[in-house]
Parts: sequence; structure tokens; C-alpha cells
Amino acid sequence: MVVPDSLVVSLGERSYPIYIANNFSGFCTCLKEAGIGLEQKLVVITDENVDSCHGAGFLEELKSSGYKAEKYVLAPGERSKNLETIQNIYRFLINSKLDRKSALIALGGGVVGDITGFAASTFLRGINFIQVPTSLLAQVDSSVGGKTGVDFDNVKNIIGTFYQPKMVYINVNSLKTLPPREFISGMAEVIKHGIIRNADFFNYIKDHLDEILNYNENVMRHVIKANCSIKSDVVEQDERESGLRAILNFGHTIGHAVESVSDFELLHGECVSIGIVGAFKIACYLGMVSAETVDDVAAMLEKTGLPTSVKNLNPDKVYEKMLYDKKAKGGRLLFVLPRAVGDVILRFIDDDKLIMKVLTEIIV
Ligand code: GLY
Repeated sequence: MVVPDSLVVSLGERSYPIYIANNFSGFCTCLKEAGIGLEQKLVVITDENVDSCHGAGFLEELKSSGYKAEKYVLAPGERSKNLETIQNIYRFLINSKLDRKSALIALGGGVVGDITGFAASTFLRGINFIQVPTSLLAQVDSSVGGKTGVDFDNVKNIIGTFYQPKMVYINVNSLKTLPPREFISGMAEVIKHGIIRNADFFNYIKDHLDEILNYNENVMRHVIKANCSIKSDVVEQDERESGLRAILNFGHTIGHAVESVSDFELLHGECVSIGIVGAFKIACYLGMVSAETVDDVAAMLEKTGLPTSVKNLNPDKVYEKMLYDKKAKGGRLLFVLPRAVGDVILRFIDDDKLIMKVLTEIIV
């Protein structure tokens, strides 16, 4: 076994470690180090897909170390991310007699993590929460930083909490069981992190794309650690998104709207990829980046296998959705725009014509 790499998200008394390992065998040792003892009840929340690949092995790992653990399995996908699912989880936790010392473990991708974190943050006013992300998207982004939540009235993530986990344990080899489309979708968040914060990392991804797409374990460990480090650094400076953290939403203003207008036919990362191109095009029209930079980034996304445009959607509907989401969240349309690869700024854009022009270029 390779000793897990680790880093710490430093948030005072809410600080926690992120372990990057190549299997689940070190999980229980790390759990004990995080202060979760054998007398504490555990509930593992996962989805049907992850359960079929990792559920039995993960539960066995817990039981063989002496932990008492139950499992709750969700239907996979964004459609589970609602308050009805949360109510069903609460009922399960009540029937299982969980107390305030118990812990919920999210074993799965971003949807499982968001749902489990929200349930953990609200059940008995907050119980222990552990993230075991198995998708690339969750390993490099959503498992770190404490955002939890569900969708409501067709608005993504509108109900939720900031609630940091006690630890994050990443088994990079769980990526091997991901459908290739999901792995590639997660790459949008990886590339996003390079663009918003670190041009050297962006170039590293570019130079190692074949190894990444062929799943070279050492390269993946480096990629995941670098991502967690970029994300932690932002979260440490602005845990509750009063400013800087909003840069992590790069590509999401358009991306979220495309995702819901396409009725979740496209994966989250695919929509973020389209949104990244949209943000670069807006920045280019505003004279902030050159057309060559836009082409360079779009080429990199395409080489990764990500879409840079979408067919069969109505641009008016996408724009309406962007405005509706912002209204529901009480704000104006805030874009994260690049000034260069590795450097982005936040800017309100009220120019309807400019936004529509870009939407019609990426919705073909
Ligand atoms: N994925 C955006 C954030 O965690 O703030």
C-alpha cells in the first residue's frame, strides 16, 4: 500500500484533513484519527451505481475494524437531489436510532456528497460528516469546502448549508470504475481550477493529458492533490463565499442554466465546459483575452473529450433560466471572467445583447 498523501483545510476549529490514497484499507485508521471511535454509529449513504462497485468492500472494511455501520442507497443522479430524499434519509436515521455522536459517510459522487452533507448538517442540529468521494468531480471539487444542499423548484442548490466534513478520504483507484463519460465530465472542474488560479497547473494538465485520460495513477494523484490544494486555498480565504470563493463558480453561470434547460441530459462537467467557453467568449468581446486564448482553451477542452457547444437548446430559454436563478438567489448576473489563464475576476454583466450573442455562438 502507498502511504496516503494528505493536506489540511485550515479553518480553525473546523479544520480537517484530506487523504489521497490508492485503496480503502487506510480509511478506518484515518477515521479514528478524526476522532470517530468504534462506539459511534455510522451510516454510509451511497447510490446504486457506487454501491454495486464499492459498497460491499467499503462496508466490510468498516466492519472488520469493529465499526457498526448501516447503508442507505439512493437512486443515482441529480433527480435524487431534493427534499423528499432528505426526508427519507431522516426517517432512516431515526429508525436506526442515530445520536449526536453518530456519523454519516458520503460514499459517492457530488450528488451523494451534497445530499449527505445536508442531512448531516441538519439532523439533530448537526452530526459528524465524512466525505469519501468516488467520482472525479467530487474528488477534485465538491467534497472539499463544505457546500451541501439540494435543488428546489427547479433551481439547483438553492437549499443548503455550509458544513465542513470531519475528513475527506479519496481513493484514486475508485476512478477506475467510473464510466468514461463521467470521468471526462469531471475533467472540466480540473481544467477550471487551472484556469482560475494556476497557469502552471493548466500547462501540466495540457502536457499530461494522455496520461490522465489513460489513468496513470501517479499523474492522477498529483492532479487530485493539486486540485484539492487550489480549492482549499480559496475556501480557507473565503469559507462562506462572501467574495473570492465565487471564482470557483467559473463556467457555472451559463453551465447551470444549460444543465437545467437540457433537463439534465448533459452531465454537470459537460455543461461547465460549455460555460467556460461562454465565459472566455464574453471576456474576449470585452477585450480582456485574445481570440487565440479562447481557441487554445476550447481546443484543450475538446482534446479532453468535453463539449464546447450544445445543440437543440433554445438560447432564449437558457438566458431566461440564468436570470430566473439569479433572481431566486437575490442577485444580478455575476460572471467569473478570465483575464488570462490562471487569472480571473468577478464582474456583473447586464448587457443582454452581449450575453445573447455568446449564447447563440455556443448553442448551435
Ligand atoms: N464548487 C464551488 C464551491 O465549492 O464553492
